[in-house]
Formats: sequence, structure tokens, C-alpha cells
Amino acid sequence: MLVLGLETSCDETGVALYDSERGLLADALFSQIDLHRVYGGVVPELASRDHVKRMLPLIRQVLAEADCVATEIDAIAYTAGPGLVGALLVGASCAQALAFAWGIPALGVHHMEGHLLAPMLEEQPPEFPFVALLVSGGHTQLVRVDGIGRYELLGESLDDAAGEAFDKTAKLMGLNYPGGPEISRLATQGVPGRFIFPRPMTDRPGLDFSFSGLKTFALNTWQQCQKAGDDGEQTRCDVSLAFQQAVVETLTIKCKRALKQTGLKRLVIAGGVSANKALRASLEEMLAGLKGNVYYARPQFCTDNGAMIAYAGCQRLAAGQQESLAISVQARWPMEQLSPL
Ligand code: KG4
Ligand code: ZN
Repeated sequence: MLVLGLETSCDETGVALYDSERGLLADALFSQIDLHRVYGGVVPELASRDHVKRMLPLIRQVLAEADCVATEIDAIAYTAGPGLVGALLVGASCAQALAFAWGIPALGVHHMEGHLLAPMLEEQPPEFPFVALLVSGGHTQLVRVDGIGRYELLGESLDDAAGEAFDKTAKLMGLNYPGGPEISRLATQGVPGRFIFPRPMTDRPGLDFSFSGLKTFALNTWQQCQKAGDDGEQTRCDVSLAFQQAVVETLTIKCKRALKQTGLKRLVIAGGVSANKALRASLEEMLAGLKGNVYYARPQFCTDNGAMIAYAGCQRLAAGQQESLAISVQARWPMEQLSPL
């Protein structure tokens, strides 16, 4: 089954072709980062308009790359939520219109299920069951995964998502959007131990997170340095390192707890923050101690992409899942509402 995947939930237009027999045939991405950078974050209306411009050229590009013609496509998978409604509607209407024109089915996919399954595109995919840490710009969740659509939420952020905390901390030091890659780059030059940030909610039981206090801690630290006239590049690096270490250690402690609680030894990390090298290293070390394994996607499939949507859609379509031609998207959509395969 050859599936065209379309991702438009935020500021990246992602398109890919995934075949159930041959695997991933092509994927293409247009990132709108340059468009939104001047505003310090994503402007929803600009995002929607740009998705409209990019979608069809990207579809033509992946067809050419895969050496396929449109008539070979068996179905279309698109991101139906969660995300920015206007941006989601571009992908949904494009998918439904093409599906109608080509006489094939279209299926809406959950964006976080896409992220969660992205490591399945790698050479050594994880087997079910496993614990998944979903860390993106909008979500921080620990989930027990027993199969596709069989998700039990173990814990989540009560306020900011991990990626959001990276972005906000970067912004307050005058760094570019998105902040995660910037902070992790500067952290490599940071002096360990100059600043020590708290590890929120690790001193009490449970698997929930809270990252908004870290951002405030970063703001206070930065403002104190500014007052002292010590707000140069080295201080940015030192704050970045201290902040990143706090997030990484907090996530590692909670993942370890989740593995202990479930008795599982396989951990999947997915979403934009799973591209973070310090996080990967810390989780790998923790899992090595437990004689377990950690799984993640290649860096370009950690952040938003069409390949994960094509893959997730293909699994559900192959299992016979169907929907009407209605164009319906959801800005908020708990993953536990998904049907099991
Ligand atoms: O999954 P994603 O592309 O979009 C959402 O679904 O939100 O995640 C984007 C988030 C942003 O907050 C970005 O700063 C963060 O992932 N991110 C990183 C890194 N790369 C992207 N955070 C930390 N370290 C990175 N290397
Ligand atoms: Zn995402």
C-alpha cells in the first residue's frame, strides 16, 4: 500500500511517500522558521498561508523523487490534530480534495501518534510494549504503549511543554526561534556548575512535569547578570547549559520512574526535543544501567515531518480504518481517544 503523508500542524510543511512493502520512498520538508523568526514565534495566519503555497510543489517533488505517478498512490494520510486549526485545515482540505479527485481514501492522523511511531522508520525499531517520552513544542507526556492506539497516559506537563520551555528561555536571552537547537548549541560552551537550576517535581512521587518555573528561574538568573553588566555570550552559554541540564535530568528521573512503575525496559523518545544530544546521552546512560534500550528517530524525523504521518496513516489504513470526505480537524485531541488497531 502506497501512502502519501501530509503534515501541516504548525510551521513545517511535510510531505512523504511510504510504502508498506518498500518502506519510505521519499520525503520533503519546507520549514517556515525564517518566516516566523522576526516575530519570535509562530504566527498562525502566516503559517496557514504558507502551507497553501508549499503543499502542491512538495507533493510533486516527492512523486518525482520516488519515481512515482499520482495514480500509484493508494491512500492519503494527513495530520488532523492537535495543532493550529488554520494550518491543520490546509492539510486536511488538500488531502480530502486530492483523495476525492483520485478516488482513493484519506485518513486523519494524530500528530503525536505520528511522533510516537517515527522511530519505527529506523533500522532497529522498538517492539511493543514500551514507555514513550513525547517531548515537543506543545507536549510533554509519558505514555505506556502496548500497540498502535493502545496508549495509557502515565504523566504529563501541568504547564509548559519541554520544547516550549527551551523556546521561552532562549527568547528571554535574545536568542532566535526555535530555542531548543540554539540552547543546545550554546550549552556545549557553558561552564558546568556556574548556575544550578532546580529539578522541578522530582522530590515528590508521580510522573507529571512542570517546566514553567525553570523559565522563571532562567529569567531571574539572566536579569541578575544583566544588572551586574555580565550578560555577554559566555553567560548565555552558562545559563543554557544549566537550564538544559535541569530539563535533561528531570526528564531522565521521570523516565526511570516510569520504567520502574511499568516494569518495562524499552524507552522511546519522540518529538522535537528528542533531537537533543544531551537528553539522548543521559537516557542512554540510564537505560544501560537498567540493561534496557532507548529508541529514537533520526534528527530530521524528531521534529515535524511528513514521513511519520505517512507511516502512522499507513498502519491504520492497512488495518481497514476509514473516514468520510468531511474536512474535520481538532486543535486539542487527547491521544487516549484513539482507537486501538
Ligand atoms: O515536534 P516539534 O517539531 O513540533 C511540535 O510538535 O511542537 O518540536 C518543536 C520543539 C521546539 O520547541 C524546539 O525548540 C524543540 O522542539 N527542539 C529542541 C531541539 N530541536 C528542536 N529542543 C532541544 N534540543 C534540540 N536539539
Ligand atoms: Zn510535532
